[in-house]
Amino acid sequence: MTRLLHMDGINLFLSSFVFILSFSSVLASSASLKVGFYKSACPLAEAIVKRAVNKAVSANPGIAAGLIRMHFHDCFVRGCDGSVLLKSTPGNPAERDHRANNPSLRGFEVIDEAKAQIEAVCPQTVSCADILAFAARDSAQKVGHISYDVPAGRRDGRVSIMDEVQGNLPPPFFNTQQLIDNFARKGLSADEMVTLSGAHSIGVSRCSSFSNRLYSFNATHPQDPSMDPTFVEMLKRKCPPSSINNGGDEDPKVVLDAATPNRLDDKYYVALKNHRGLLSSDQTLFENDSTRKMVLRNGKYGLSWANKFAKAMVRMGSIEVLTGSEGEIRKTCSVVN
Ligand code: HEM
Ligand SMILES: *[C@@H]1O[C@H](CO)[C@@H](O)[C@H](O)[C@H]1NC(C)=O
Ligand SMILES: *[C@@H]1O[C@H](CO)[C@@H](O)[C@H](O)[C@H]1NC(C)=O
Repeated sequence: MTRLLHMDGINLFLSSFVFILSFSSVLASSASLKVGFYKSACPLAEAIVKRAVNKAVSANPGIAAGLIRMHFHDCFVRGCDGSVLLKSTPGNPAERDHRANNPSLRGFEVIDEAKAQIEAVCPQTVSCADILAFAARDSAQKVGHISYDVPAGRRDGRVSIMDEVQGNLPPPFFNTQQLIDNFARKGLSADEMVTLSGAHSIGVSRCSSFSNRLYSFNATHPQDPSMDPTFVEMLKRKCPPSSINNGGDEDPKVVLDAATPNRLDDKYYVALKNHRGLLSSDQTLFENDSTRKMVLRNGKYGLSWANKFAKAMVRMGSIEVLTGSEGEIRKTCSVVN
C-alpha cells in the first residue's frame, strides 16, 4: 500500500513534469492525448481498425498510401479533427471536394468500415479523427514495418470548408523555403518536413501534379533541368500531353517511388539524389543546401529515418487537436451528428 502510494506520488510528479514540458511546446494540446485512450471504454477499437486496414491493404497496397496521406490532409486543415472525412452538403463544399483531395484521396471506405464495426460494439465512443490516426499507423506498419503507439483522445470537428485547404496544404510546386514555412506554421521542423516527405516512397501521383516539369517548366526551359533527362523521357511516355485533362479521373497515374513503389522505405531519398523525384516539392529538397544534407542522411540511414518518421507522424497527429468536451464523437464519419 505504501509502495503504491509512493508510486502514485512519483507518477504525479512525473506527469506534472511532462505536462509542463509539453505545455511549453507549440503543440500544447498534444499533452492531452494518451496512448491506450480507449483501453477501458472500447478495448477492441484499435484491433478493429487494424483488421480493416490489413484487409484493405492486402487487397490493394495503394490504400496504405491513401490512408497515410488522408491523415496528413486532415491534420493540416483545422487540425486532426476528421474534417477531411466530412462530405459536402448543399451550399457548403467541404475539404474533401477540394482538388487537392478530389478525386485523388483514397481509403474513405476503410475508415467507414472500421467505424461501422466499432459503433456496433461501442456506440459514439471512438472518434473518426482517432480512427484515421490509427489507420495511418497501421498502414505504415503493414507496408513499412514502421510501428509506433498513437496517442488518442481526439474529438471530431463539426466544420469542413473547401476553401481552407488552400493556404494550409502545400501544393506540389512549392520550393524548399515555402515547404519549411508551411510546416513551421503547423509546429513542425524542417527535418520533420523532410522526414515526412518520405511518405512519397509509396503511392501514386496523377500526371497533372507534375506535368509542368515535363512540358512547360518556364520561359527558357520547357523541361525542369533538375530532373534526370532519361526519367523525363520515361514520364513523357506515361503522361502524353493529350492525357492531362485537368487532373480528372482519366489523368494517368505514376508511382511516386519507382524503385519500391509499395514499400514505405528510404529509397525515396536515394531517388532524389539521382534527380528522380517525381514532384517539384520532392526534388527541391535536394536542390537546397540545408535540406540536401537531411535527404542524404535519410537515404543512408534507413533505420534512423524510420524512427524519425514514426515520431514525426505522432507529432503531426497532434496538430490542433480537439479534446475533452470539444467537438463531438461522430456516429458516421462523413456527416456531423
Ligand atoms: C511536403 C509537402 C507535400 C506535398 C507538396 C505533397 C503533394 C502531394 C501530391 C501532389 C501528391 C499526388 C496527388 C495526385 O495528384 O494524385 C501526393 C501524394 C501522396 N502524398 Fe504527399 N505531399 C506532401 C507531403 C506529404 C506528407 C507529409 C505525407 C504523409 C506523411 C504525404 C503522403 C502522400 C502519399 C502517401 C501520397 C500517395 C497517395 C496515393 O497513392 O493515394 N505527402 N502528395
Ligand atoms: C528557368 O529555370 C532555370 C532552372 O531553374 C533557371 O536557371 C532559369 O533562369 C529559369 N528561367 C526563367 C525565365 O525564369
Ligand atoms: C535553403 O533553405 C534555407 C533554409 O530555409 C534558406 O535559408 C536558403 O536560402 C535556401 N537555399 C537555397 C539555395 O535555396
